[in-house]
Amino acid sequence: MDRKKEMQEEMSRFHKIAEKLSGRGLDAMMVTSGPNRLYAGDFASSAGMAIVTEKKTWFFTDSRYIEAAQKNIQGADIQEFTREKPLLDLAKEVMERNGLKKVGFEERYTTVQDYERWKEKLPCELAPASTLFSELRSVKEPEEIERLVAAQRIAEKSLVETLDFIKTGRTEKEIAAFLLYRMLSNGANRMSFPPIVVSGANSSMPHGVPSDKPVADGDFLTMDFGCMLDGYCSDMTRTVAIGHATEEMDKVYHTVLQAQLAGIATAKAGVTGRAVHEAAAKVIADAGYGAYFGHGFGHGLGLEVHEDPSANMANDKPLPVGAVISAEPGIYIPGRFGVRIEDVVVIEENGCRDIMEAPKELIIIK
Ligand code: GLY
Ligand code: MN
Repeated sequence: MDRKKEMQEEMSRFHKIAEKLSGRGLDAMMVTSGPNRLYAGDFASSAGMAIVTEKKTWFFTDSRYIEAAQKNIQGADIQEFTREKPLLDLAKEVMERNGLKKVGFEERYTTVQDYERWKEKLPCELAPASTLFSELRSVKEPEEIERLVAAQRIAEKSLVETLDFIKTGRTEKEIAAFLLYRMLSNGANRMSFPPIVVSGANSSMPHGVPSDKPVADGDFLTMDFGCMLDGYCSDMTRTVAIGHATEEMDKVYHTVLQAQLAGIATAKAGVTGRAVHEAAAKVIADAGYGAYFGHGFGHGLGLEVHEDPSANMANDKPLPVGAVISAEPGIYIPGRFGVRIEDVVVIEENGCRDIMEAPKELIIIK
C-alpha cells in the first residue's frame, strides 16, 4: 500500500467514534457537520451524512462528491443520495433495517430547522452527543499535528515574504492581500479566516478589519492570519513596529511577550485552561494593563480555527496530552494602539511544545 493510502486508513476514524457509542448508550452516531464528517472520514464535502455504528458505517453524499468519496473514504459503505432517493430516506432505511433506536447527533452544529426535520422523518430518538467529537478532536493524533505544523510553516514563510513587502504607504488591505496571496502561492488550500491586518489606532481592535489606511511611521502593525492545508488550520499573530517604537510601545510589546511566555510555561497536561489564562493575565495586570486584555489566552485549533479545548477563564477542565492551543495574549489601548503575539503549542505530559519557528523579538521595519 502506498503512503497516501496508508495515511487515509490511519485518518479514517469511524472505529474511534464507534468505540464511544456504548458508553453513551447510543446505537449510532449521525455525523452531519462539515468538520466532523471531515474528521471521521478524512474527506471534505459540503453536504452529506455518515451514520456510524459498532458494526458498520454508512457515508451518504451527492453527485458532486460520490466519485471522490468512493476513491478516498476507507471503511464505510458509500451511497449517493439523489432527488429520487433523498438523504433522509437513505438514513431512515439504514435506521429501520439495523434497529437503530437511539442515535447521537451534533447539537453544536445543528440548526433548529434540521433538527425539526429529522425529528419528523427519522424513526429514532435523537440524543445530543457533540461532546463525543470534541473529546476525540481535543486529543490530536501525530498525523494531525504533522498537518497543523505543515500549515503553520506555510504561514511563517509567507510572513517572512510579507515583511519585505511592508513599507510606509502600503495599506492594511494591500498587506492583507499580499499575505493571502503568499499563503496560497506557498501551497495553502485556503485561509483559516480572512487575515486581520490593523495598524496604528486600528490595532487596538483585536479583530479589526483591514482598511485603506496606509501604514505610517510610529505605527504598530498587527497581522493575525492562518491558512489551511489538508483540512488543518494554522493561526499566528505578529505585531511589528513601523519606523520606530516609543518607549511605551516597547514596554507594551514586551509585557505581552512576557505574558505569552508565562502562559506557555504554565501549559501542560492536567492544568486547566483557566490556569493557563490566569498566568498570562497576571503578567499583564501586574504591569498595569489589566483593563486592556479582554479576550482569552488561547483556543484549541485543528480542523476548525476555534475548537476545544480553550485556554480561557471558562475552561475549568484539565488540558489533555495532545491538545493543540493558541497562545495569544494582547494589550489593546483604545484609540492608541494594540499588540498581540500568537503562537500555537501542543500540550505534553510535562509542558508544551511551541510549534512556531517565527521569531518574537520586536521587529522594527525601517
Ligand atoms: N487568530 C484569530 C482568532 O483566534 O480569532
Ligand atoms: Mn487565534
